[in-house]
Amino acid sequence: MADLSTNFVGIKSPNPFWLASAPPTDKEYNVRRAFEAGWGGVVWKTLGEEGPPIVNVNGPRYGVIHGADRRVLGINNIELITDRPLQTNLDEMARVKRDFPDRALIASIMVPCEEHAWKAILPRVEDTGCDGIELNFGCPHGMSERGMGSAVGQVPEYIQMVAEWCKAYTYLPVIVKLTPNITDIRYPARAAKRGGADAVSLINTISSITSVNLDTMSPEPSIDGKGSHGGYCGPAVKPIALNMVAEIARDDETRGLPISGIGGVTTWRDAAEFLSLGAGSVQVCTAAMVYGFGIIKEMTAGLSDWMDEKGYTSVSKVTGRAVPNVTDWQYLNLNFVTKARIDQDLCIKCGRCYAACEDTSHQAIAINPGRVFEVKDDECVACNLCIDVCPVEDCITMERLAPGTVDPRTGRRVEANYANWTTHPNNPMSKAAE
Ligand SMILES: Cc1cc2nc3c(=O)[nH]c(=O)nc-3n(C[C@H](O)[C@H](O)[C@H](O)COP(=O)(O)O)c2cc1C
Ligand code: SF4
Ligand code: SF4
Repeated sequence: MADLSTNFVGIKSPNPFWLASAPPTDKEYNVRRAFEAGWGGVVWKTLGEEGPPIVNVNGPRYGVIHGADRRVLGINNIELITDRPLQTNLDEMARVKRDFPDRALIASIMVPCEEHAWKAILPRVEDTGCDGIELNFGCPHGMSERGMGSAVGQVPEYIQMVAEWCKAYTYLPVIVKLTPNITDIRYPARAAKRGGADAVSLINTISSITSVNLDTMSPEPSIDGKGSHGGYCGPAVKPIALNMVAEIARDDETRGLPISGIGGVTTWRDAAEFLSLGAGSVQVCTAAMVYGFGIIKEMTAGLSDWMDEKGYTSVSKVTGRAVPNVTDWQYLNLNFVTKARIDQDLCIKCGRCYAACEDTSHQAIAINPGRVFEVKDDECVACNLCIDVCPVEDCITMERLAPGTVDPRTGRRVEANYANWTTHPNNPMSKAAE
């Protein structure tokens, strides 16, 4: 059976699934129950500096985007870091770590961007016996207006500086949690590495307004008629997170830097995708908030079954497997020619493929008598929109034209060799690229 245990920058965990720093990890009661359910680790809800506790709003703190079946696709929140006293959290963390020594316990920290603030909190965090620290440079609301969270994560120089302080003042592994509210994720990741961080984790939430109440004209969640932007997460953000993880995994400067993947992980498959793009562990928040801690059982069983089926004996064998296949557009094979094929036995004659292709694609689907839908090879550019809109899985598939055959759309023979834009005759730069 596949070995799900992980050793992420020296932090050992029985499986790669950690709960992300958020309400599920806000207190001892939650974390104990999460560990009993089987979670491999937790990143404790972000700790702030000593002093009067943080104050949260007393009205709704979530805005939600539902799918047609009312499944939660994305959550936006305006919650701040922990609003419980620092010492209460530290005492609870120490008790939990004592009782669950085999689980990963990471302290998430957000204090002002001043050396003394980090120097003061780190020894107290170490005393809990936790396994590592995560620097929260990500929250895009509330704390960022006070010069913390994403206000730090958006400035690579600050990231490097704080990472250096933490490396100087603690022996614990340092994970820098990155904000996605930035144009190019490679810059903050490089800064974290330059600062000596052991790893990065991403993504934190995306700045967002989920909806506007058109009766009150207030953004949701609405607090007494007013709303502010919040942080978006859940399945809707997974594509953004996967891309950012892959960018860091394949960047010349950060390749090999351990990554904890976060953003929309809901099933074992999501986790496997993050691992394949370079993550060594994954973190989960929204899925636990929507479905409860019990989902860990399906996540671990599913990942383990899939790894057995594919012959991956350990999680580290999956990490980064897909990275060599992430490339830039200019290197995609332009001699790879496909055409859509409709399986008439599966087709329910709904006509959605026709509407999509006729109105917005390449007028490549004909309606024959008896509502028989057929692809016109001389028009089909293989965009695959018809597959995306067809309600029947596998009813439409793409078929590759064999090398040597003529593409009826272009009238050109399909070449067998790989050739990309850098060498294409239409590319004015092609000579330089050769
Ligand atoms: C209500 C809520 C509160 C959160 N609080 C924190 C926090 O205190 N510290 C932190 O680093 N991230 C916080 N996050 C972000 C999550 O840790 C995670 O990065 C994000 O939700 C993406 O993961 P997901 O798609 O699995 O939810 C919070 C998220 C939510 C929904
Ligand atoms: S692949 Fe694109 S162009 Fe071809 S039939 Fe489908 S929608 Fe039309
Ligand atoms: S969308 Fe799919 S099921 Fe509907 S007509 Fe086209 S091929 Fe048939």
